[in-house]
Amino acid sequence: MWVKALDSAPKEGTMVAATVEGKKIFVTLNNGSLYAAENRCPHEDIELTLGCLKGNRVKCSLHGYSFDLSTGYSSEEDIDNLCTYSVKQQNNKIYINL
Ligand code: FES
Repeated sequence: MWVKALDSAPKEGTMVAATVEGKKIFVTLNNGSLYAAENRCPHEDIELTLGCLKGNRVKCSLHGYSFDLSTGYSSEEDIDNLCTYSVKQQNNKIYINL
C-alpha cells in the first residue's frame, strides 16, 4: 500500500523524519536515489536521523553501527537489520510502500 510520506523530496544528503500510518520513518536522497526506512535503530530505541549518512549507509549516533540504505543490512552480525521501504516520487510528493 503506497502512502504519502512527504510533500517534497529531501535535499541531497539529508534525512527527513516523518510519521506515516503511525510508523516513524525517514526518507533520504543519497547520490540521487531516494531511500526510506524505519527511523529507529534496531540496536536500541534511538532515531537514526540523529546519525549521519556515510556512503550508502546510515550510521547511528549512539554506538556507530550502520545500516545499508537499500537492504537494511546491519554492519554487525548480532544486530537486526533495519526495516526499509520502497519509495517513489510522484507529482513532487514522496510515497512509501508500507
Ligand atoms: S543504538 Fe544504534 S548502534 Fe546502538
